[in-house]
Amino acid sequence: MSDNHVLSLDFDREYPRIVRGDRIYMYTEDGTEIVDGASGPVLVSLGHGIDEIADAVRDQTKKIAFVHRDDCVTPVLEESCKTFTEASNGDMYATFQVCGGSEANEIAIKLARNYHRFRGDQTKYKIIARWQSYHGSSMGVMAISGFSSRREGYEPYLFEHGHVAPCYCYRCWFGKEPGTCGLECAQAVEDEILAQGPDTVAAFIAEPISGMSLCAAEAHPDYFKRVREICDKYNVLLILDEVMTGWGRTGKMFAYQHYGIVPDMVSTGKAVSGGYYPLAAVSVTKKFYDGYHETGAKFKPGYSWSGNPTGAAAQLAAYKYLNEHDLLENCRVQGEYLKKRISEIAEKHPIMGDIRGKGLMVGIELVKNKETKEPFAPKLGMASQVQDECLEVQNMIIEASSGCFKGTQGDALVISPAFVITKDEVDMIVDKLDKAITAVEERNGVK
Ligand SMILES: Cc1ncc(COP(=O)(O)O)c(C=O)c1O
Repeated sequence: MSDNHVLSLDFDREYPRIVRGDRIYMYTEDGTEIVDGASGPVLVSLGHGIDEIADAVRDQTKKIAFVHRDDCVTPVLEESCKTFTEASNGDMYATFQVCGGSEANEIAIKLARNYHRFRGDQTKYKIIARWQSYHGSSMGVMAISGFSSRREGYEPYLFEHGHVAPCYCYRCWFGKEPGTCGLECAQAVEDEILAQGPDTVAAFIAEPISGMSLCAAEAHPDYFKRVREICDKYNVLLILDEVMTGWGRTGKMFAYQHYGIVPDMVSTGKAVSGGYYPLAAVSVTKKFYDGYHETGAKFKPGYSWSGNPTGAAAQLAAYKYLNEHDLLENCRVQGEYLKKRISEIAEKHPIMGDIRGKGLMVGIELVKNKETKEPFAPKLGMASQVQDECLEVQNMIIEASSGCFKGTQGDALVISPAFVITKDEVDMIVDKLDKAITAVEERNGVK
């Protein structure tokens, strides 16, 4: 029996043992440097080793271990929630903090259901979502997620309220092109609301820019405007899941700001605390808040660890660091450069089919044939091959995913380093990626 008592993803794999980190680098016990080209699971947004945030966590826990939000509130939580309003330029009014993105989306579902229920629309409960979306791993949010491989095996536990086609222009489910389409993917939302019965639908949830299921696929510029109109028409709440995109990752504080709309609720996580403490949140607009408040109903979400003062302290310090070092701007500038450089190397690599994403969240879809967009056979695991090559030979971590082609085939990668990255480090990451893709192409006989 092995000495390792960690229950890991892959029982048979030897993982690098990381002992410390600094900016975009992680170090093993023997001093090997690994480039964190993914920021963990697109999470350590500001980089490793920031004393100010670590100190804020320490100082807060020295003041008090924890307080329960059923009984008390803390100044640090109040101050932290206020920054969500500030960061959204006043779009969001009130915030509820939890410990992870899945919890945040569970809360969003409960809020949506209660909002309608207490306002007298008892029959409105369904949450419509999209295929090839990801909203988390607890059963409720896995039910609304449309990420086939992550749902696999758990289907008996998952409710089905309706899933619609994603907004995925590279492989439009309706066979259209972005410039000439009729936004059929947005129309699908209205069709589903009608098919389910508008009186039964509480909310529509989507990622403004897709996370790991479609690896940074951007929405058509007009998609969310049309979706917003449809939601308003049928009194359906619009929840945007910004667990991966929120707090700067796409070069704006929130990705919905790219699309000229305001959702009723935004869930955020990951980057919210810079990765220094488990934290996530649901924020709601003033309209939603007032609409709920005036019913006189209470909100009973559960979750012992919610409203955690330590998470709030980490968030405040991360937000301060982001602003003081102008990292939103650096994320935008370096993100554009990263995308440009990856697009340049894509020209010589036959398997690099589509380069997409905003800010420091750049997706690469791998294809067998660039002209026809034919995907590789899933058994080849092309994305995993590139990911493994990056780690094992280039000492760099990137994210890989499969199933972007209707859940059954399709390989893609995400490159998402921390916002502190420099131009030279972008070049270094692209160079490593270039070498890894060359090696995988050679190994697979691709010319
Ligand atoms: C868009 C999105 N929503 C929700 C989640 C779930 O968040 P967590 O893993 O913190 O529960 C994730 C995690 O990757 C995500 O990317």
